[in-house]
Amino acid sequence: MEVQGLTVEFPTEDGLVRAVRGVDMHIAEGEVLGIVGESGSGKSVTALATMRLLPKRAQVSGQVLFEGRDLLTLSDRAMRGVRGSDIAMIFQDPMTALNPVFTVGEQIVEMIRAHAPVGKPLAWKRTVELLDLVGISEPSRRARQYPHEFSGGMRQRAMIAMAVANRPKLLIADEPTTALDVTIQAQVMEVITEVQKAVGSALLLITHDLGLVAGIAHRVQVMYAGRVFENGATDEIFYRSVNPYTKGLLRSIPRLDAKEKTRLYTIPGLPPSGLSRNEACPFRPRCEFADAVCGTVPELVEVVPGHQSRCHHTQEVSM
Ligand SMILES: Nc1ncnc2c1ncn2[C@@H]1O[C@H](COP(=O)(O)OP(=O)(O)OP(=O)(O)O)[C@@H](O)[C@H]1O
Ligand SMILES: [Mg+2]
Repeated sequence: MEVQGLTVEFPTEDGLVRAVRGVDMHIAEGEVLGIVGESGSGKSVTALATMRLLPKRAQVSGQVLFEGRDLLTLSDRAMRGVRGSDIAMIFQDPMTALNPVFTVGEQIVEMIRAHAPVGKPLAWKRTVELLDLVGISEPSRRARQYPHEFSGGMRQRAMIAMAVANRPKLLIADEPTTALDVTIQAQVMEVITEVQKAVGSALLLITHDLGLVAGIAHRVQVMYAGRVFENGATDEIFYRSVNPYTKGLLRSIPRLDAKEKTRLYTIPGLPPSGLSRNEACPFRPRCEFADAVCGTVPELVEVVPGHQSRCHHTQEVSM
């Protein structure tokens, strides 16, 4: 997928909310891309825009090329064909994907049959295999149960099974473990990456937790105030970040080797509102490097091949 100049604006009573302000993004076949950033930075809106799942009043422009086709200009019908087969999404809340009045198995069968001419018995067999793949024990019995008979973690697993039912080429997971108990977050994350590898799809993993992407993503894209602030291979971002915002996020990750009773760092201040018309660097009020040149929004520039940063002070930050 190749996203170019994606812009999303919402007309609201308070004015135009500029949620996404010119985002470029590419995900190669089989690649895992992590999108991180604080709340409100535009991560979900970016993902929802590529899937065309935003409310009608959202004003979307730019290009979302998927295998060369611009998804933003497809007919609704063609887009329904893409969703759930070429691209599938895993949400934070499994109940947004599961229907309470059908059994889990029926829903996965339905998902398979909506996109491929498969008979019911074969689709059922495949459903049981999928539930097994995501680690649900006694899958043939469980397939006959309703979502409310599943625990939260099992529902999340069922939604993952449904998402990969048609072997999508791209899987988008938006905060897939945030709503879960900490003890099962790691398990569910493991299921997602195992299944993603088994199916061979690419994964777009959205999270505010930089620590979560560390061991999983090939590349990380850091978003702030609707823009990409840094982008590069995971090691580049973790060990050679040249962006003050990313560095702040990195310092905010809890460390097991920290001295007892050291306070966890948080970036001072808050992100700007989506209504902001300020043409200064949006991180300026929170940044220790800020000075007069930060009165304009910096461009996203290449630091080393494949590693880009948006900051007027890249030279100083990297030292
Ligand atoms: N339907 C909507 N109408 C108006 N504004 C919206 C709408 N959806 C999102 N926004 C605004 O767009 C901006 C980006 O929101 P988004 O949900 O993409 O953030 P996020 O990075 O996913 O944050 P979080 O980590 O909290 O999920 C925010 O300012 C948000 O208030
Ligand atoms: Mg979000």
